[in-house]
Amino acid sequence: MVKKGILFLCMTALIFGGCSGALKENENEVTPDFVLTYAENQAEDYPTSQGAYKFAELVKERTGGKIEILVNAGGSLGDEKSVIEQMQFGGIDFARVSMSTLAEDIPKLNVLQMPYLYTDADHMWRVLEGPIGNDFLDSFQGSGLEALSWYDAGARNFYNSIKPIEKLEDIKGMTIRVQESELMSDTARALGAIPVPMIYGEVYSGLQTGKVDGAENNWPSYESTGHYEVAKYFTVDEHSRVPEVQIASSYTWNKIPEEYREIIRECARESAKYERNQWKARESISRQRVETEGCVITQLSPEEKQRFQQAVMPLYEKYCADYVDVIDQIVAEGR
Ligand code: GCU
Repeated sequence: MVKKGILFLCMTALIFGGCSGALKENENEVTPDFVLTYAENQAEDYPTSQGAYKFAELVKERTGGKIEILVNAGGSLGDEKSVIEQMQFGGIDFARVSMSTLAEDIPKLNVLQMPYLYTDADHMWRVLEGPIGNDFLDSFQGSGLEALSWYDAGARNFYNSIKPIEKLEDIKGMTIRVQESELMSDTARALGAIPVPMIYGEVYSGLQTGKVDGAENNWPSYESTGHYEVAKYFTVDEHSRVPEVQIASSYTWNKIPEEYREIIRECARESAKYERNQWKARESISRQRVETEGCVITQLSPEEKQRFQQAVMPLYEKYCADYVDVIDQIVAEGR
């Protein structure tokens, strides 16, 4: 009875072409040699996540399906610090993380994210895509991580729930959430604020419950996390540009055959180009969206910006004493 049923189903499928088609598809399906994980702490539609999906798609295509990368967006594999730790033990294979968090493990990276280092986005990209950027990508040796490519993350700005920050005095004494980064804490302190390190996923409730008065981030993060709903005063001070980095676990990397490694690097670089385009578009959409929602946007005057810059200058001595020549070269690239 059962046999008859199956025969009937197959006959019907054959007539309509379904049964033979399904068999063919299975026959052609390539079994991956590696199924690897990728951690991303932003939402699925965020530019860096879009870059990650593009990366996974390119890798699958160019390795003929032999390497499959499963992107876990929305921070489902943990906050950035724990993702980095897990990667150092091979628990997670790939990720895109903020350079601030990474610099805690690789302090040299702080040089590339010093406050007010770049005049604008083009300046930063000239540096990252030139010999300096390549040299820093090579400096991951011994960290348990491989650097693949830079992603864009725009400029970071302060926002808060209390009042508009129009001058240096306004931020004095405010509790500001910062990333788990010594440089970020020092930056807030140098401006007279009280830094409160906190993981990204907790910032919304931190702002909502008044645990912190404010935070700092780029336009897309401010908008996509909904921080603007609970901290409506946003000041365009562009105190830092912190690029994102796409990384691989060295543990995983050493297991991947040489022939695939170059393909992966190439796909990472291509996905970075894609991410930068996505970024540009999302930056202005996010800004428009929060403006429409009634956020109060304050543009720091050039005089005040200079005061902010002066206040953080002593940090260069602390973080860049061994890299004065690199800082000089970076500054020269901005002229
Ligand atoms: C940016 C960055 C995140 C980071 C976050 C933060 O949004 O893309 O990776 O976690 O800043 O402020 O913690």
